[in-house]
Amino acid sequence: MKNSNIVLSVKNIRKEFIVKKHFLTGKVKDKVVAVKNVSFSIQEGKTLGIVGESGSGKSTTGEITGGLMKPTYGKVFYKNKNIYEITKKEFQEYRKNVQFIFQDPKGSMDPNYKISDIIAEPLLTLNICNNKREALKLVDEILSKVGLDDNIKNKYPSEISGGQCQRAAIARALVVNPSVIICDEPVSALDVSIQAQILNLLKKLQKEYNISYIFISHDIGVVNFMADKIMVMKDGNVVEMNEAKQVLLHPKQKYTKKLIDSAFIN
Ligand SMILES: Nc1ncnc2c1ncn2[C@@H]1O[C@H](COP(=O)(O)OP(=O)(O)OP(=O)(O)O)[C@@H](O)[C@H]1O
Ligand SMILES: [Mg+2]
Repeated sequence: MKNSNIVLSVKNIRKEFIVKKHFLTGKVKDKVVAVKNVSFSIQEGKTLGIVGESGSGKSTTGEITGGLMKPTYGKVFYKNKNIYEITKKEFQEYRKNVQFIFQDPKGSMDPNYKISDIIAEPLLTLNICNNKREALKLVDEILSKVGLDDNIKNKYPSEISGGQCQRAAIARALVVNPSVIICDEPVSALDVSIQAQILNLLKKLQKEYNISYIFISHDIGVVNFMADKIMVMKDGNVVEMNEAKQVLLHPKQKYTKKLIDSAFIN
């Protein structure tokens, strides 16, 4: 594996959440270790699937990888540079290049803004466009790429369906031309028929733009459909990581077998 193909990687990351402190001394009385010791890398144009039961540390891992949250220990590298040792400008470049899509697109959108403004927003805050007119022009172009009709532009999030809203969230991530999109349970809240459409759209966009994905789901069936490589998490640790096919056909851990059984029996 050529090192230059690696876009993003994390090394020995750990995340502790303090849940209780002594009210006078401030001494930590209780903490949750959400992620214990996780390392992985993502190659250009490829998908790493992260699967595991609820509470296994998937979202925390995704948020640390995308710079939304600092690890307690460990390092995050974007294009081989430690993101906490780079210049402000380089950090901004990293934040532009690593975008997110979440489970609940409506929850991640301001209900008072029109869809066009929501998609245009990162173009303005990241200084990619100089003015709103320029940004809205790019929004027009991106809408057809994600299969949305032009008339959706003037609607508010509450006026469109869950599937349309997830397409708008994909447009918002895509419009800044990122190298990685971290997808955290992007189809878990959608109808099964819509799920397939969104997954196929993500695949199509990956081919077209050579984007890397981190694809997080509790459903190993969905992860297998998307991923080149699968990382299985349990209690904040990686218990298995391999090519997707290998994990599905020859799971090494009982826990992985259980995930496979529960995904394909239902
Ligand atoms: N801000 C926080 N404060 C305290 N504990 C937290 C916080 N965020 C997450 N945790 C805990 O860390 C552990 C991992 O949470 P995380 O959200 O990463 O899991 P997950 O695998 O994404 O689960 P799910 O499938 O339910 O989304 C859980 O025990 C969770 O309760
Ligand atoms: Mg989660």
